[in-house]
Amino acid sequence: MSMIVDPGLEQVVAARTRLSDVQGGSGRLTIAGFALEDIAHRATFEEMVYLLWRDALPNRTELQSFTRSLGEARSLPDQTLDLLRAAAERRAALMDALRMGVASLDVEDDSEQQSMNLVSQSASIVATYQRLLNGDAPVPPDRSLGHAANYLWMLTGEVPDPEHVRALETYLNAVIDHGLNASTFAARVIIATGSDLVSALAGAVGALKGPLHGGAPGPALDMVFEIESADRAEAFLRAKLERGERLMGFGHRVYKVRDPRADVLAGATRRLYHYGSGDAALYELAIDVERTALRLLEEYKPGRNLQTNVEYYTALLLHCLGFPVSLFTPTFAISRTAGWIAHCREQIETGKLIRPSSHYIGPNDRVWKEADDRE
Ligand code: ACO
Repeated sequence: MSMIVDPGLEQVVAARTRLSDVQGGSGRLTIAGFALEDIAHRATFEEMVYLLWRDALPNRTELQSFTRSLGEARSLPDQTLDLLRAAAERRAALMDALRMGVASLDVEDDSEQQSMNLVSQSASIVATYQRLLNGDAPVPPDRSLGHAANYLWMLTGEVPDPEHVRALETYLNAVIDHGLNASTFAARVIIATGSDLVSALAGAVGALKGPLHGGAPGPALDMVFEIESADRAEAFLRAKLERGERLMGFGHRVYKVRDPRADVLAGATRRLYHYGSGDAALYELAIDVERTALRLLEEYKPGRNLQTNVEYYTALLLHCLGFPVSLFTPTFAISRTAGWIAHCREQIETGKLIRPSSHYIGPNDRVWKEADDRE
């Protein structure tokens, strides 16, 4: 049988999904039937989760009940709190603490309760751990607040500004699901073995951590900081490209035009800066850096169509909300958790194990020698 080897699996369609559609050529992202730009700034995070899990928007009563159930699932079990305290003493990185924290959550028989727990408790893990790392006492969750507002509350212990809640919610909605990206695929591979949601999500967190996936916004912002002023942008970026380095926040496996999530987040970020939050000079600098980066990428990688991706504006938006760089990828993870779960549910419905083949390129003629006889 002839075999096509496709190491990045780009040409492989490994799932049917009703959750999201990524049209890389036209730059269109559909979430369960809605264009991202129509829904991200309007919906609450709870509405987005409901939409992905139940394939419909909730009516008022359904939304209230769903929001209440998610709110009631936020407290962390003792073993997770103990683990986070121990991890903070050893100064483990946030994404590592999230991976360990998720893995320590109780495995439930009831998949609906398990799903609620994972969405709510992943946010509690990140906020609690961030405070422990800073030497602050954890802030207990507030059931009267929605998911995004409660996350800000648990991080800061202050009642959040509604503009900040809206901006964060727009961000969470924009990154909740995105086709068969690496972490979602990892989750589907794990759940397809008949394993449990906790294990699938622990694996997905590990996949999201990598700089080629969810780990890019920190370096993207660091790059803007390092550039310092617009007149240094060209020389700085050119030197990076001459050294063969990648510009973080640009390029995408699927999008060959501007990532539609970048547009949604650029709008939300602009709104925040106009509202008076964050450092307006940094925002202006970032816009200049983006323009120069796109010009140079076209010069150095002609025809590759390397465009701004979601991570660039993620960095600006979350920075504007006062988040340190270390919180960027974990905040991405707490949203994507809902998407991972939705995909796991779809995968379970197929009942199919995911098991691709490999093409062996090693030798076939080795002869066994005892250890003493080997060179
Ligand atoms: N800067 C400079 N060159 C780049 C960049 C970049 N950001 N992205 C791709 N290239 C170049 C590669 O060096 C390669 O050039 P070559 O063929 O001359 O060697 C060519 O463009 C194609 O790159 P690939 O890595 O083969 O393309 P792929 O589709 O696998 O890459 C990826 C996608 C990994 C996102 C890449 O664009 C990248 O590394 N970007 C920077 C990291 C980043 O922003 N990651 C976040 C992605 S969004 C997300 O996952 C949520």
